[in-house]
Amino acid sequence: MPQSNKDSIGDPAHFVGLVGCGGMGLRHLYGLQALQEVAGQLPDGGQGVAVVAVCDPNRDNAEFIADNAEKLLGLRPDIYATQAEMLAAHPEINEIDITTGSASHHHLVVEALEAGRHVLVEKPLAATVRGCNLTLAAARKSGKTLAVAENVRRDPLNRLVKALLQDGAIGRPYLVVDYIATGGDSILLTPWRHQKETGGILLDVGVHSADLMRYYLGDITTVSGVTRLLEKTRYPSPDKAVVSEFFYKRWLPDLPDKVEATAEDLLSGHFQYASGAVGQWTIMQAAHSDKRNMRLIYGSKGVLELPPDRSGGPIVLRRDDLANPLKDQGLLDYAPSYRLDPLTVALFGESRPVNYQLSFEEIDRRLVAIELADFFEAVAAGKNPEVDGAEGRKAVAMVYAFFEAGVLGRSVTLAEVEQDQGMPYQQELNVLLGLD
Ligand SMILES: NC(=O)c1ccc[n+]([C@@H]2O[C@H](COP(=O)([O-])OP(=O)(O)OC[C@H]3O[C@@H](n4cnc5c(N)ncnc54)[C@H](O)[C@@H]3O)[C@@H](O)[C@H]2O)c1
Repeated sequence: MPQSNKDSIGDPAHFVGLVGCGGMGLRHLYGLQALQEVAGQLPDGGQGVAVVAVCDPNRDNAEFIADNAEKLLGLRPDIYATQAEMLAAHPEINEIDITTGSASHHHLVVEALEAGRHVLVEKPLAATVRGCNLTLAAARKSGKTLAVAENVRRDPLNRLVKALLQDGAIGRPYLVVDYIATGGDSILLTPWRHQKETGGILLDVGVHSADLMRYYLGDITTVSGVTRLLEKTRYPSPDKAVVSEFFYKRWLPDLPDKVEATAEDLLSGHFQYASGAVGQWTIMQAAHSDKRNMRLIYGSKGVLELPPDRSGGPIVLRRDDLANPLKDQGLLDYAPSYRLDPLTVALFGESRPVNYQLSFEEIDRRLVAIELADFFEAVAAGKNPEVDGAEGRKAVAMVYAFFEAGVLGRSVTLAEVEQDQGMPYQQELNVLLGLD
């Protein structure tokens, strides 16, 4: 048993155990460092947080994250192979932060909640809707907080888009177009993202867009679409095209020469909002010789053209009554309700930014800081986190609705997907995950 550090860290409000010591585990450490940096600027002085233990069956990864925790946060956490061992050795841990690959989420979330801990879990909440439902039931039973680490909506520019829509900048929203093309036959960061039982690349990438499309315009009711597996063999990317390469560089040399993909890489179809607006969504993760991000929201008075996620802008507003498109301070006239919270202001340095210039690493650590702080505040105040289990499940259900619609050959309602009623595509995954 390693020497415990728990007596040497003073009196923080939050004792955290980190589960999963890969790329996202590292990114959460950077997020915590960003939180520490601005704590003094916050009205309440920020919440004291100590990562006292980490666990990962891969000992090298656990050592790497413990080293980085010491370097970035000033305290070396104890190391364990499993969450169960870590929880048993650290009764003072009140919050668990899960950053493992998606296939393990449901099991780890349920185990931590049943052990009486509050849980923040990386998106997606689970690899299938049934997995999500198990976590929601465990959260209800334990009375503990369950939050999903969905960082993209926390971007100040997404807060601005939401205000523009709410304040009527484009009139009544008619149509959302969300289109991503990238990937070719490259491995996206890790081999597991191409294995079906993890939900694969479409769930991994898609939950961000699904969450945002709901965040912007509310609940989605029906979906029709198809999915395909196009690139069955994938290879390490010949260039450094992935924006988050900085966080993964330690593992890139370990990538195999090739990966046999079982997970689909194209999703395309339509959906309908409860408001009556409609959406058109394509994720093409097998696009050769192309890299494209397009997100447009059309309304009765104009259109918003949105930048790629986590890029800093610009947002462009075109309206029938404007001679020229707006993309700078002028946007603020159409978003009078736009105000950021004190933490986001401290991290981004402005209360109403319309764009910003930061590297991906800097953007990422700020957005992760915001989602972590939201979780800690929710636990401390006994209130709901912004993205709770129910919200996390909606994003997972939205992605699977396209798979299910494709297999069933008809449109599906989000309600039937969320309730896990006779969904044939996920049945195979549930068997692979031991959830049948
Ligand atoms: N929000 C974002 O922008 C974003 C970006 C990347 C990844 N993610 C999410 O973060 C999660 C992790 O992705 P990643 O890229 O860091 O993967 P990764 O493969 O780099 O890291 C996962 C780590 O978890 C460990 N692990 C596996 N099973 C475990 C278990 N039972 N207990 C403890 N550790 C275990 C692995 O050994 C590995 O070290 C995924 O859910 C992914 O979707 C989110």
